[in-house]
Amino acid sequence: MRRLKNILVTGGAGFIGSNFIRYLLKQNSDFSGSIVNLDALTYAGNPMNLADINNDGRYFFEHGDICDRLFTEAIFKKYDIDTVAHFAAESHVDRSIHGPEAFIKTNVFGTFTLLDIARNVWKNRTDVLFHHISTDEVYGSLGEEGMFTENTAYNPGSPYSASKAGSDHLAAAYYHTYRLPVTISNCSNNYGPYQFPEKLIPLMIMNITEGKPLPVYGDGKNVRDWLYVEDHNSAVWAIMRGGKPGERYNIGGENEWENIKLLNALINIVSEKTGLDPLKLRETITFIKDRPGHDRRYAIDCKKIKSGLGWRQSVSFEEGLRRTVDWYLGSKKWVESIRTGEYKKWIDLNYSRRN
Ligand code: NAD
Ligand code: DAU
Repeated sequence: MRRLKNILVTGGAGFIGSNFIRYLLKQNSDFSGSIVNLDALTYAGNPMNLADINNDGRYFFEHGDICDRLFTEAIFKKYDIDTVAHFAAESHVDRSIHGPEAFIKTNVFGTFTLLDIARNVWKNRTDVLFHHISTDEVYGSLGEEGMFTENTAYNPGSPYSASKAGSDHLAAAYYHTYRLPVTISNCSNNYGPYQFPEKLIPLMIMNITEGKPLPVYGDGKNVRDWLYVEDHNSAVWAIMRGGKPGERYNIGGENEWENIKLLNALINIVSEKTGLDPLKLRETITFIKDRPGHDRRYAIDCKKIKSGLGWRQSVSFEEGLRRTVDWYLGSKKWVESIRTGEYKKWIDLNYSRRN
């Protein structure tokens, strides 16, 4: 098992990154090092996601952009970073269709900058690790049959997935060319607490509770594989502890759902918890124009991480959805600050040093 001391988590104020930091500091007793969260606090980054962690002596926050070489290199030196968990990205497919530039900047150039700093600062050290977090979307779209394996050829379809594919290739190239100790993971759709409500599950929960229409793209039969965020993070941690440099690992829920079936399951849970009438809620489902280039189906073969590192999913979809609905219904302050945009004003007031 690799011993990791000073971990730089990029994008730690976002959905998965903040859950990762919480996972390491609160749920994982075998971690005794320190965590530096480097985050630009874009619309998706929210320090409120880590309000319960702020006073932990092992946690440090740095407000900055991974594309800023001087600043990021100084962070590596200041904290004697020996490990990177690289989550920072522009992450929403629809936004990438409307404005791809930020995706190229952060996902491609930002990842390059981080890799190059790691190479420069770490020289030829072998007791270090750069773990790059990526997506199953780099593999493109599946038909009715089949699954993505680690050997599936890349065939990204959206500006988001193309930018992630570019970043994966750079990470792999830094291992191949410079022997920088790099691992890569490609994961399916995450859901859980603190997810920004532009993504399907939190968007639908919030729209249901606000009495808004429930927009379904196309025929609603696109298929996604869903994984509870904590299970993604336990997989990332397993790779960081035991994964082999130069290797990639698929991570998935083995849990495929058509969007429309998922929405109906969600409606049942929300109505059970709120007393809202499920029949009335179903009437608010609105089929709208399809997302351009909408990938039809994703499915992940994650045998490699299961057999190689002993990782398993631990949260069933029913349980994960219930926890997620409970969290959104019970986190009124968080939901309200996102809904009204208040969190942005608060960030501007408290974190105006950079950007
Ligand atoms: P998110 O959008 O919720 O969070 C991204 C975070 O990165 C935010 O805190 C944002 O402020 C920060 N950030 C953006 N640009 C930055 C920059 N230039 N410098 C520093 N910080 C910056 O994203 P997420 O859903 O938590 O995804 C995290 C990672 O996991 C991404 O790399 C994404 O591609 C990958 N991933 C996500 C999913 C999913 O279902 N959400 C699935 C597989 C892989
Ligand atoms: O597969 C992993 C990827 O999953 C991650 O890399 C991305 O960061 C993450 O955003 C997610 O991408 P998707 O495009 O699959 O997620 P999204 O929640 O945007 O959409 C899920 C499905 O639901 C997709 O088929 C589009 C559909 N959808 C989405 C929204 C927001 C709707 O039908 N209506 C909606 O309003």
